[in-house]
Amino acid sequence: MNGERNPGAGRRKFLQESAALGGAAALAGIMPSIALAQGAGKIKIGLMLPYTGTYAQLGVAITNGFKLAVQEAGGKLGGREVEYATVDDESEPAKAADNANKIVNRDKVDVLVGTVHSGVQMGMVKIARETGILHIIPNAGLGAATTQLCAPNIFRTSFANAQTTYPMGQVMAKKGHKTAVSITWRYAAGEEMVAGFKDSFTKGGGKVVKELWLPFPNVEFQALLTEIASLKPDAVFAFFAGGGAAKFLKDYQAAGLKGKIPLYGSGFLTDGILEAVGNAADGVETTLHYGDGIDTARDKAFRLAYAKTYKLNPDVYAVQGYDAGLLLAAGLKAVKGDIGKKKEIIAAMEKAQIDSPRGKWTMSKGHNPVQDFYLRKVVGQENKVVSVAMKALDYPPAALCKMSR
Ligand code: BEZ
Repeated sequence: MNGERNPGAGRRKFLQESAALGGAAALAGIMPSIALAQGAGKIKIGLMLPYTGTYAQLGVAITNGFKLAVQEAGGKLGGREVEYATVDDESEPAKAADNANKIVNRDKVDVLVGTVHSGVQMGMVKIARETGILHIIPNAGLGAATTQLCAPNIFRTSFANAQTTYPMGQVMAKKGHKTAVSITWRYAAGEEMVAGFKDSFTKGGGKVVKELWLPFPNVEFQALLTEIASLKPDAVFAFFAGGGAAKFLKDYQAAGLKGKIPLYGSGFLTDGILEAVGNAADGVETTLHYGDGIDTARDKAFRLAYAKTYKLNPDVYAVQGYDAGLLLAAGLKAVKGDIGKKKEIIAAMEKAQIDSPRGKWTMSKGHNPVQDFYLRKVVGQENKVVSVAMKALDYPPAALCKMSR
């Protein structure tokens, strides 16, 4: 699996510096004291993402986006060619630490990129903190990854779960909704999405009259939709994504709730699935850091390149993968591909301003994007951007991250 790469020299130096910086004592003492020549051979990227199950489409879009960024950089990062090791994490938290450990220690990747599911992310963060591997999160919004569990080697190019829904609660309250029911999967992402929405909705005078939960990835919504019909709230807030979101939207319509009780959510509810749901999502309003019709030259160029390369329209997941590639490119450019220069790579990534299709964004002190959130409305096959709901949002606040270096 190592191909022609310089057999792990840069990575060893990177891990050694990480151990010193991050306290990974287990690695201390076993590393060569003199770093070998840097900059030769290939950079090995580990992609640990879901390629099967409810979130499979999300994993593919992230992979496509990342590879497009590398392709646009001439197939090289920091002047070095790139090779990939891939693992399907199946959105299965129980296998997460084991899978991450294998890709880092057996496949000897230089950089670990992943994942989508917040429960799996917890296992990856654990391995990233223990080994010091440079780690980029291209989706999973697990709040702790960039607050309580933040670390110098862990970066995110997507969002924190509650960051995507805090703007939605405010929008709903401003529309005059007084009562709402929330419905989602019971795992870290669902819990944090509801918490962010509830925070701003209650601040705006609204009340969440009932929280409805299903185990992930269950899609048996019928009984809960019947309960919503009998509760008659002013509005419903939902977090589902991928295949689960498509099924929820169709069931909401089939239950006769569409058009009767307005449906809102974080944008994952309607991103990447509109072709699969016919008109079931028409009129649904969501908040997210990407949408259709952003109408900048940067976004247009990205969408064209993505469509040309993959014969598909990009979605938010593709953008997050693309930005992970841009971020890593910025880090490796600063050291001319010398993956061993950990401090310099981290410094460059911390100060990078990412010229993203979503709009420019910067890193918070906890290494989470500080970015604008759009209010979007489904019109036909598009998540049409209506307005900017919140600008440069840092939430939960990066001040919760106490980074030890
Ligand atoms: C999460 O588990 O963090 C997540 C999954 C899909 C979309 C958004 C967040």
